[in-house]
Amino acid sequence: MKETNPIGIFDSGVGGISVLARALISLPGENFIYYADTANFPYGDKEPAIIKKGLCQAAETMNAKGIKTMVVACNTATSVAIEDIRACYDFPILGMEPALKPAVEKAENKRVAVLATALTLRESKFHKLLAKCQSRGQIINLPAPGLADLVEQGHYNDAEGEKYLTQLFQGLKDIDVIVLGCTHYLFLLPLIQKYFPQAEIIDGGLGTVRHLAHVLAEHDLKTKATKGNIEVMTTKPSVFLPRFQGHLDYITAILKQNNNI
Ligand code: DGL
Repeated sequence: MKETNPIGIFDSGVGGISVLARALISLPGENFIYYADTANFPYGDKEPAIIKKGLCQAAETMNAKGIKTMVVACNTATSVAIEDIRACYDFPILGMEPALKPAVEKAENKRVAVLATALTLRESKFHKLLAKCQSRGQIINLPAPGLADLVEQGHYNDAEGEKYLTQLFQGLKDIDVIVLGCTHYLFLLPLIQKYFPQAEIIDGGLGTVRHLAHVLAEHDLKTKATKGNIEVMTTKPSVFLPRFQGHLDYITAILKQNNNI
C-alpha cells in the first residue's frame, strides 16, 4: 500500500462532508475519495439490509481505487454494518458513534441531549454505549427523523430548518451538552447555538479525524505531500455532484467561525 493512495470517506449523503472538511484542515497533503450513497439516502429510516448493501458496494468501489483506509462518516451505517465491511478488507476502517463518552467526561452529572437518526438510537451499538455512560449524566435521546433530509436539501440555516428544530426542542430545558450524533447535523450548528447558547456542542468529527491521523501514522501511511486532491463519487450524480462544492464551502466556513469546534 502506498502512502499517496487515497483515503475513502463514506456517507449516505452530504453529512460526511463535515468530516471531509475537518480532514482537509488537519491532513492537507492527503488524497481523498468522497463517496455518497445518495440513491439510498436517507439511511435513518431504511432497512438494515439496504444500508449493508450500500456500504459494501461503496467499500468495494473504493477498494478497486486503492484506498489505504476508509472512514465510515455516518453514525447510522456504522451502527448497522461496519463489521460487515471490516470482515472483507485489510485496510483500516474507522467508524463513527455519537460522542457520548467525551460528553459525559466533560460534563459529569450534567444534562446531555443526543441528537441522532432514529435508527442509530435504536441499534444495539448505541445501547451498549449508553449503558457505559448513563450513570455519569442525565442522557436524553432525541431521534430526529427528517432532519438529515433538510440538511441534504440545503435548509441548514433558514426558516424550514428553524421550524423543525423549534418542534424538536420544544420543552427541552437546562441542557448542558448537545451531542451531534449524525454527521449531517454539524451543518445546523448556527441554528442549534441559537436555541442553546449556553450549551456545549460536541460533534464526533473532530475525534474521528484525530483518530484517522493516528491510524495513518501508526500504519506508516501518512503522505509526505503537502497538497492532495478530492475525487467525488456518488450513486446519484445528477443530484449530488452539483451540490458538493457548495456544501463543502459552507461547512468549512462554519468550522472556521467556530475554531474547528
Ligand atoms: N449522516 C448519517 C449519520 O451520521 C445519517 C443520515 C441519513 O439518515 O442518511 O447518521
